[in-house]
Amino acid sequence: MTDRLTLRRPDDWHVHLRDGAMLELVAGHTARQFARAIIMPNLTPPVTTVQAAADYRARILAALPADAGFTPLMTCYLTDDADAGEIARGHGEGVFTACKLYPAHATTNSAHGVTDIRGLWPVLERMQEIGMVLCIHGEVTDRSVDIFDREAVFIERTLEGLVRDFPALKIVLEHITTAQAAQYVAEAPATVAATITPQHLLLNRNALFDGGLRPHAYCLPVVKRERHRLAVRAAAVSGSPKFFLGTDSAPHAIGRKEQDCGCAGIFNAPFALESYARVFDEEGALDRLEGFASEHGAHFYGLPLNEGKVTLERAEVTVPALVGEGELSVVPFHAGETIGWRLLSPSP
Ligand code: NCD
Ligand code: ZN
Repeated sequence: MTDRLTLRRPDDWHVHLRDGAMLELVAGHTARQFARAIIMPNLTPPVTTVQAAADYRARILAALPADAGFTPLMTCYLTDDADAGEIARGHGEGVFTACKLYPAHATTNSAHGVTDIRGLWPVLERMQEIGMVLCIHGEVTDRSVDIFDREAVFIERTLEGLVRDFPALKIVLEHITTAQAAQYVAEAPATVAATITPQHLLLNRNALFDGGLRPHAYCLPVVKRERHRLAVRAAAVSGSPKFFLGTDSAPHAIGRKEQDCGCAGIFNAPFALESYARVFDEEGALDRLEGFASEHGAHFYGLPLNEGKVTLERAEVTVPALVGEGELSVVPFHAGETIGWRLLSPSP
């Protein structure tokens, strides 16, 4: 049995670091685990300009110690008014790594999202030309579609056409949750990849109602049936370069989760690698964790692999009930549970 595992330092290809006091609270958790992360732009107001992204990047770096060795990779939030020139300039200047497509009202802070993707054609054409990645929150927002079907319907209604019309555009279908998404991505051209979160590997939809209503298991896309969880697990541990790590760590202060209309989002940053290690261990695939966590994403984005290493050790670590204090405190994923792995820091 492997009790210690050393990996090339991993990256998180989808994270919400927020801003202000919440940024101060959470940034260190991501930087401790990951060398780089794709930073989601769904602030209020959303990050839509090169200047806003450069300023946000500076605030992220300022929230970390100078020697954190962490690189935030910024994204541009696509709106109906997105401007191809601004996006290409941001990419050229090394500020924007990718663009993020939220269908309007699909999730937290997506009110400014795209209402009709056909309006984005000029932007997508330019992104395709310059090799810029498009990250997609892949759910339809049609309220007549059952919430558990919104990802599968998005693939049929939108994604298939997009992949056909933009055969060279690099697309990441983010935080996949279904057997349909896993199969679609596995069979799609090499330009299409997917990220996978710890919660979608570990929870099925029973977790939402486990002895009562469980707001801290609620995220979007919502966790699905067991057969979908198993399909997503199989994709993650398959070794396919199309699947890679993206935590979708999405902190909300406890009071915003535990209320009449609680926010979607699971804060998994403090123990993300440990979560993934548990899954790969359970699947007898620890030898594939490094590809998933530290290689496939960088290859897809055309970025160099990280030089550093991290070490995980088999250990009984209990996750605290809360991270932070007072009104700002956040309930982490696995709160009060024991994970069978610990990240040693710094790596010996
Ligand atoms: C995210 C958030 O809180 O910003 N929430 C979530 O449930 N994942 C938004 C998102 O990525 O959908
Ligand atoms: Zn997200």
